[in-house]
Amino acid sequence: MLRVAVVGSGPSGCYTAQCLVQQDPGVLVDVLDRLPCPYGLVRYGVAPDHEKIKSLQNTLRTVLEHERVRFLGGIQVGSAGVPAGRLRRLYHAVVYCVGAATDRRLGIPGEDLPGSWSATEFVSWYSAHPDAVDDGFVRAARSAVVIGVGNVAVDVTRMLARGAAELSPTDMPQAALTALSASRVTGIHMVGRRGPSQARFTTKELRELGALPDACVLVDPAELALDPACADPAGLPAAQRRNVEALRGWAGAPPRETSRLIRLRFFLRPVELLADGGRVGAVRFERTVPDGRGGVTGTGRYEDVEAQLVLRSVGYRGVPLEGVPFDAASGTVPHLAGRVLREGAVAPGEYVAGWIKRGPTGVIGTNRPCAKETVVSLLEDAPALAHREVAAGDPLAALRAGGAEPVEWAGWRAIERAETELGASLGRTVVKLPDWESLLAAARTAAP
Ligand SMILES: Cc1cc2nc3c(=O)[nH]c(=O)nc-3n(C[C@H](O)[C@H](O)[C@H](O)COP(=O)(O)OP(=O)(O)OC[C@H]3O[C@@H](n4cnc5c(N)ncnc54)[C@H](O)[C@@H]3O)c2cc1C
Ligand SMILES: NC(=O)c1ccc[n+]([C@@H]2O[C@H](COP(=O)([O-])OP(=O)(O)OC[C@H]3O[C@@H](n4cnc5c(N)ncnc54)[C@H](OP(=O)(O)O)[C@@H]3O)[C@@H](O)[C@H]2O)c1
Repeated sequence: MLRVAVVGSGPSGCYTAQCLVQQDPGVLVDVLDRLPCPYGLVRYGVAPDHEKIKSLQNTLRTVLEHERVRFLGGIQVGSAGVPAGRLRRLYHAVVYCVGAATDRRLGIPGEDLPGSWSATEFVSWYSAHPDAVDDGFVRAARSAVVIGVGNVAVDVTRMLARGAAELSPTDMPQAALTALSASRVTGIHMVGRRGPSQARFTTKELRELGALPDACVLVDPAELALDPACADPAGLPAAQRRNVEALRGWAGAPPRETSRLIRLRFFLRPVELLADGGRVGAVRFERTVPDGRGGVTGTGRYEDVEAQLVLRSVGYRGVPLEGVPFDAASGTVPHLAGRVLREGAVAPGEYVAGWIKRGPTGVIGTNRPCAKETVVSLLEDAPALAHREVAAGDPLAALRAGGAEPVEWAGWRAIERAETELGASLGRTVVKLPDWESLLAAARTAAP
């Protein structure tokens, strides 16, 4: 049998495992994750109010329950855990599917003022990621600025705009629910540096903002008019045309009587976060105009938008895994059709899939063909891989002997049960456990 380690149990890891066992009856797959819980950003990124997308976890579950697939949670690969080199000595092939765990930086003054966070941090908090810190995100905030106009920006804007009744049926951790329910944020400004026709959000997600029960979307017609493509959207690709049509539908409409106003702003480039009493108090933007080549140029005119809370939603970024090649410019692992490249040459037995291969764009489904490409390469190499010298016996025994204490599938199922019980005790459905201690304690209740 060919033994393969897949590092990361997000969509790319699960699709890689699925493809491997479907395509080759002679493959055994261990899916390792640093967290005791599987599914990556499907569990810790997809917004809690998107129950339908969240339910994709049920599809991924069938992969991890396959008889030739084994989930090994709580195993960090890299310097702080199992070195990548050691993994390569235990398995015929290793596929890195570690995603893009951190955020891009703006690189402007004031970025790190208290009250300014990356969307990554905010998402991790309301998603109950055990590494998240509860830093009182919405405490004392009246006005919030979300920088960026991608789908993550839409997610965090929507989470700020929803009330208690809308959030409580979700699996959001109790502390985040309590904090967001008590939030006094009444104004949310979501701001793009380019024009409406260049926004990265998708129309379905955009329209959802307009359907929120107690929030109203405002669009400034003057900012639409600045974008030449908005005058005649018929010539735009369908996705952008639909966005522009949705935005035009809101432009200039008077605000309704709602608890929260969402202002969608364009052609404003963040240049500085301004302090007020030691915390962020406003964001200074420079007005931009189209440069005719898809970009923008500054005008030297500035606008300050009040904000006690700033969420920087300008994209994610891959982090290097010690012992694995990394291209710092793109934040990805260099590869050829999924085969890892070391100094330009294919590294036998090492593969990559998902965001750490392509960069941090694409929806869950995009990871399926990406994983497939990698698996095709791996299985083409299988005859040579089978001859690689690897330690005899079950790699799990070797990992344990090296000090690893994996959370196996039964442990994860015990976590799921604990979350259902917690939900019932709080009069909610499922409520996620938000910290390492409670996750590991729940996992330990699994029958050996
Ligand atoms: C906030 C947010 C919301 C999103 N919402 C949607 C949505 O609604 N619909 C949609 O289609 N797409 C959505 N996406 C996109 C989608 O989540 C990604 O396309 C997808 O998760 C990328 O998959 P991945 O497997 O490459 O990475 P991830 O999902 O990030 O999985 C990586 C896994 O690797 C593990 N890992 C990392 N480092 C190590 C290590 N050193 N050792 C062991 N394990 C490690 C992590 O714990 C994680 O489980 C969203 C993305 C974000 C950021
Ligand atoms: N519901 C869903 O399907 C869903 C939900 C969440 C995420 N996702 C997917 O996950 C992926 C990541 O989403 P994302 O929102 O993190 O990234 P994204 O789509 O790449 O959007 C990033 C945004 O940040 C802006 N930006 C980048 N650098 C900036 C800077 N220095 N100053 C100001 N603005 C800056 C970008 O503007 P420019 O265009 O001008 O660079 C863009 O508006 C996407 O593929 C997304 O579709 C999907």
